[in-house]
Amino acid sequence: MSLELQLQRFPKEISLKDGAKVQLRPLRRDDEKAFHEFFLAVPERERMFIKHRVTDQSVIHDWCQNIDLGRNLPLLALLDGKVVADATLHQQLGGWKRHIGRVSVLVHPQYRGRGLAKAMVHEIVEIARHTGLEKVEAEFIGEQEAAIHMFAMLGFSNLLRLEDYVKDMQAISHDYILMGLDLTTDEEYAGVGG
Ligand SMILES: CC(C)(COP(=O)(O)OP(=O)(O)OC[C@H]1O[C@@H](n2cnc3c(N)ncnc32)[C@H](O)[C@@H]1OP(=O)(O)O)[C@@H](O)C(=O)NCCC(=O)NCCS
Repeated sequence: MSLELQLQRFPKEISLKDGAKVQLRPLRRDDEKAFHEFFLAVPERERMFIKHRVTDQSVIHDWCQNIDLGRNLPLLALLDGKVVADATLHQQLGGWKRHIGRVSVLVHPQYRGRGLAKAMVHEIVEIARHTGLEKVEAEFIGEQEAAIHMFAMLGFSNLLRLEDYVKDMQAISHDYILMGLDLTTDEEYAGVGG
């Protein structure tokens, strides 16, 4: 099935554990301000987990001006015009990893614990599954325990842990963890959405 067909499922409304309704849809060019504000709300200690300088407006401007959903598909969750979460499917589109999608997720600190990340990663995995990818992977540093726990609940297994392998923006070393889900055999765990 093509990506275009998958994208026709959006915008999509989902209900959170507290009953709030959020809209899920891919990033658009006019999301620049709201997307930048979302990243500014992320505490400094967590921003070091992110691979890009997302507080820099020019980085977000560049993303919004050069949207290529076949390569990077940022699925946003919006509530009253505010971006409250982002789950992205990254694809290589060639080379050794062309059959593997990479998933990343970030939830606004004020909107955590309501099932947003779980629901969004589930959506991204469904898109990956229906666009012909065979596997999805997710990368973490050792301190991202909540995220590692959540991906494990969704059926991802630990593929690799390398001690003191990566460095954050302040050049401090951290363990590197790679988790993965085989879309041709493994099933995601049930119970998404609450
Ligand atoms: C990790 C993160 C994405 C979770 O987002 P969230 O919307 O709060 O997660 P959910 O509400 O969907 O929770 C899903 C499950 O994860 C677990 N979980 C979430 N936060 C947790 C925490 N702080 N400690 C332990 N477990 C936690 C819970 O078991 C929860 O399952 P439950 O609903 O059955 O109780 C969010 O804390 C975040 O953005 N962290 C920083 C960025 C990051 O680490 N991203 C991952 C890199 S790919």
